[in-house]
Amino acid sequence: MRLRDPVPHGDAPAGLQAPPFSARLEPGDRRFDAPADQPLMQSAARAGIELPSSCRNGSCRTCIGRLLSGRVTYRIDWPGLLREEMAEGWFLPCIAYPATDLVFERPVPSEFPGRFRASSA
Ligand code: FES
Repeated sequence: MRLRDPVPHGDAPAGLQAPPFSARLEPGDRRFDAPADQPLMQSAARAGIELPSSCRNGSCRTCIGRLLSGRVTYRIDWPGLLREEMAEGWFLPCIAYPATDLVFERPVPSEFPGRFRASSA
């Protein structure tokens, strides 16, 4: 039997599951598997990494993080971010789905006034 071309993440045929992406949270070098069909926050939680959150629907920005490498996608048209913020790498892990392996950070709120809201975690 001849092997076919690799299946891109998120495009696995029915019955087959694509391998998860790898995610790394800085600071701390915390690594976890991040399946393409699961919001990043949920994957982190499954690995025992609790990210700050409140609404979990992309509107409060409590979970905001910044991508250092990699890419995410959204299933809603207007996540609670400005186009300029997305261009700078800001993203919302509660509604962001990994599209590649990625590295992200949870910046210190005092360094980015206005980007954060009160955190429940
Ligand atoms: S928890 Fe509210 S935007 Fe992510």
